[in-house]
Amino acid sequence: MLDIKVKNTPINKAVVERKMKESGLKNIGTASIREIVKLVNEIETETGDKFIRMEMGVPGLMPPEIGTNAEIEALKKGVASKYPMIDGVPQLKDEIVKFVKNFLNIEVDRNGCIPTVGSMQGGFATFLMTSKLSKTKNKTLFIDPGFPVQKQQCDVLDLKYETFDVYNYRGEALRGKLEEYLSTGEIATILYSNPNNPSWICFTDTELKIIGEMANKYDVIVVEDLAYFAMDFRKDYSKPGEPPYQPTVANYTDNWILLISSSKSFSYAGQRIGMLVISDKLYKKEYPALGEKFGNPLFGYNMIYKILYSLSSGTAHSAQYGLYAMLKAENEGTYNFVDDIKIYGKRAAVMKKLFTDNGFKIVYDKDEDKPLADGFYFTISYPGFTGDELIEALIYYGISAISLKITGSKRLEGIRACVSQTSEDQFADLEYRLKKFHEHHSA
Ligand SMILES: Cc1ncc(COP(=O)(O)O)c(C=O)c1O
Repeated sequence: MLDIKVKNTPINKAVVERKMKESGLKNIGTASIREIVKLVNEIETETGDKFIRMEMGVPGLMPPEIGTNAEIEALKKGVASKYPMIDGVPQLKDEIVKFVKNFLNIEVDRNGCIPTVGSMQGGFATFLMTSKLSKTKNKTLFIDPGFPVQKQQCDVLDLKYETFDVYNYRGEALRGKLEEYLSTGEIATILYSNPNNPSWICFTDTELKIIGEMANKYDVIVVEDLAYFAMDFRKDYSKPGEPPYQPTVANYTDNWILLISSSKSFSYAGQRIGMLVISDKLYKKEYPALGEKFGNPLFGYNMIYKILYSLSSGTAHSAQYGLYAMLKAENEGTYNFVDDIKIYGKRAAVMKKLFTDNGFKIVYDKDEDKPLADGFYFTISYPGFTGDELIEALIYYGISAISLKITGSKRLEGIRACVSQTSEDQFADLEYRLKKFHEHHSA
């Protein structure tokens, strides 16, 4: 355990020490998100002090009533007693087609537009599927830093993967790095999130083009995780059918799967519904290995009738109606979902300043030559601390976050902060605690 010499930390030192011991965690800094949540809950309960909770990426907003009302109506009509179609209710599929056209400017057939139990299931299904296409070309390449649970999914499935931290490979440098991995012939899929969890870097079109070109060259499927759809607030991606559009690799390759989550962009995490969108070319692609295993070689068919059928036989019926109603309103321009979530960017701007004014540094700070956007997450470090140590030390100051180490980042000095649970009325507390931290730790 870290030796915090100062006595008057904002949170009772003895309680923090005892709770850390009781948690049984060997290293607080590398604890998982849910372990930090548990530890901080216990400290809050015992001390009565409210933490600045920045460890977990949960939406901090109310869900749109358009969605919840549509669900209530569907439930009243009796959908709860009926199995939904595995590939989604027809009207939802049609709205997904329109959404993809309106907000990404990409055309896709309704067959490849499938609701899943969150993007979490979309990713799991994708890993299951893409690991079966070839005996030798079956690994995922994660462009890190990334969402730790996706690697956990691979571990649960006993699947192999490779990763690298993109920090030093932005812009044209990405090409050589990707080639290094893809040329082994073992990589079946490339996965990244954009905007990125945890670093909030956003790939530029130069980088997306490189990824697309490499996918074409090595026949690799790109899984683009759009969990934070339209949340790069430097540009307004909110107008249906009008540029600018959410940037996507789908502009540069036909080998893609998009995971579009409704959790953050539509504040709909609780209903566990997301969209798995498969390009027309991939949907129709035939793989001999699938033919041998399942009797049908088609990628899209097997994704629905073998993989998703086996996992959950579709997605909750009422949630599909909720998502349908929200997408319809977004497509028709009667509901601007980005207006609702812009608040995260505003919070991030204030919070980042509070940190940097008190000796902290932003770790991932640029998209090529442009300063990073203010959004759902940011990454920080403090001189003289590793990320692990910083996570532990900040707990004494009533601030919780997660270490970048668990995200595949090589920036071991860094931690990830999520802005979603910090409301404006906590900014003064945050400022006070950061000032104390700086006072106690600046040389
Ligand atoms: C990058 C990334 N992908 C996927 C997910 C999971 O999304 P969902 O809630 O739709 O399952 C998250 C959630 O935090 C995420 O950050």
